[in-house]
Amino acid sequence: MPLVGSQELFKKAYAEGYAIGGFNVNNMEILQAIVDAAQETRSPLILQVSAGARKYARHEYLVKLVEAALQTTDVPIVLHLDHGEDFEICKICVDGGFTSVMIDASSRPFAGNIAETKKVVEYAHAKGVSVEAELGTLAGVEDDVNVSAEDASYTNPDQVKEFVEKTGVDSLAIAIGTSHGAYKFKGEAKLDFGRLEKISKLVPGFPIVLHGSSSVPQDLVAQCNKFGGDLPGAKGVPEDMLRRAATSAVCKINIDTDLRLAMTATIRKVFSEKPSEFDPRKYLGPARSAIKELVKHKIVDVLGSNNKM
Ligand code: G3H
Ligand code: 13P
Ligand code: ZN
Repeated sequence: MPLVGSQELFKKAYAEGYAIGGFNVNNMEILQAIVDAAQETRSPLILQVSAGARKYARHEYLVKLVEAALQTTDVPIVLHLDHGEDFEICKICVDGGFTSVMIDASSRPFAGNIAETKKVVEYAHAKGVSVEAELGTLAGVEDDVNVSAEDASYTNPDQVKEFVEKTGVDSLAIAIGTSHGAYKFKGEAKLDFGRLEKISKLVPGFPIVLHGSSSVPQDLVAQCNKFGGDLPGAKGVPEDMLRRAATSAVCKINIDTDLRLAMTATIRKVFSEKPSEFDPRKYLGPARSAIKELVKHKIVDVLGSNNKM
């Protein structure tokens, strides 16, 4: 099956009350793990590539790896640019085989965010590519940009309808308390579900996206730390909150950090048990299996996108 855009997938997810995982890909093992998990659970899938991932693995390699995945699967797959910072990178990805792009101009003033998003929408839609934008800013780290909790701002519901209408965007990432990375909440984990409900009522039927939705499983943090290290026991987004979000207007939930933790915890365990290991397959293989199990768990127990293709 060829790559698909996200609009049709979101329509079904919205109507049936589940969300599709936006899982970040950085190399072959991560890609295979995610794709195998989606295939086994019969789930639609959004594979997303950040600017950092494009730099690391290289655009052409990533696109060819995804093409290989398409040959061996039959679930609908979207290839999505995560956090495109301007029109230029979105254009490169639209022209370079992606079926969805995110223009993240959320750090610009409202009018500038609208203008840049509209420009991307016009270009992408002419080529049949879907567009996600962001309104409000999340705290945390993405690429080399570190947004402190003080500089983060929740999405203003009063701006949402105007933003959606003026840009023609297909989905919108909102800030309601999630944040990127492994250090999400100092105190109690809390999402502003009232704000989410208010926003979804203002744009009925419109797909909402949640970034920064890793749960930071404490067993994986402990497994990383056991072999030396100081990842604090930070709180991620509790899975019951994500489950609740998935049944609402939220149609896409982004997860990257949890995959990194699963991979790193597994590799560290392999080396602790056999410090002399030097065959990459002996540590990347188990890491791939761990990511696959984690993604299956997210799909079946959190997002509810299994058997929805
Ligand atoms: O939202 C950010 C994603 O986790 C991607 O992270 O920019 O380090 O690849 P990255
Ligand atoms: P996490 O850091 O919580 O995994 O969020 C990933 C994300 O939002 C990618 O865009
Ligand atoms: Zn994000």
